[in-house]
Amino acid sequence: MRIIRTKDYQEMSRRAAGLISAQIIMKPECVLGLATGSTPVGLYRQLVEGYRKGDLDFSRVTTVNLDEYKGLSRENEQSYYYFMNDNLFRHVNIDREKTHLPDGMEPDSGKACADYNGIIDAVGGIDLQLLGLGHNGHIGFNEPCVHFELGTHCVDLTESTIRANRRFFDSYEAVPRQAYTMGIGNIMKARKILVVVSGEDKAAAVKEAFFGPVTPKVPASVLQLHPDVCVVADEAALSGI
Ligand code: GLP
Repeated sequence: MRIIRTKDYQEMSRRAAGLISAQIIMKPECVLGLATGSTPVGLYRQLVEGYRKGDLDFSRVTTVNLDEYKGLSRENEQSYYYFMNDNLFRHVNIDREKTHLPDGMEPDSGKACADYNGIIDAVGGIDLQLLGLGHNGHIGFNEPCVHFELGTHCVDLTESTIRANRRFFDSYEAVPRQAYTMGIGNIMKARKILVVVSGEDKAAAVKEAFFGPVTPKVPASVLQLHPDVCVVADEAALSGI
């Protein structure tokens, strides 16, 4: 595991965007695993800037996102599809047919998850998976658990995650209670993993995830076992180590 320490959020975003840009330039038909949340917003902005300057071409890139809320449609402003569209897809020359997220409107969890596993296989697996880190050590929506869940699955979100995501919704009640997420197996099969973390409020999670024991109680800790992980974190996020 490589840890790149940056001064602040801006530098974290620039460094992480640089690594993703390198992936796209080295392999223009690459498969990117993408993440939502507030942490990657700055790096998506940098990627859009790279595209506008003519340095990046997304036309052959395929994307698979980590997760989606169950019950939210693509048009819902809080859906992760909407987020991806707003922060990246609509600003670059990506082929929409090559962008994938779990289908939040599929009520049959078994079908939604099997379909998504099928998509990840069909695109040939993930070259570079981007991850944020939840306060409780979750990645995607893989919440602390008694065992690592391998494939895409439907999760009941924990109180901590519902509270953390409350800021994006009108009320606490409006936050969906379930989501479809790639499993730890899907994530660990990615050829490279890039984790971005910012802020002092993540310092404890960083310490536990990357310097503590590997346990499903801290889902991100499993990344210690992956052969090619790069964590780009600002000083505040690394202040606990
Ligand atoms: C959500 C997402 C995760 C994300 C996490 C942290 O729960 N499902 O993929 O990493 O939040 O979000 P933030 O970057 O806003 O702290």
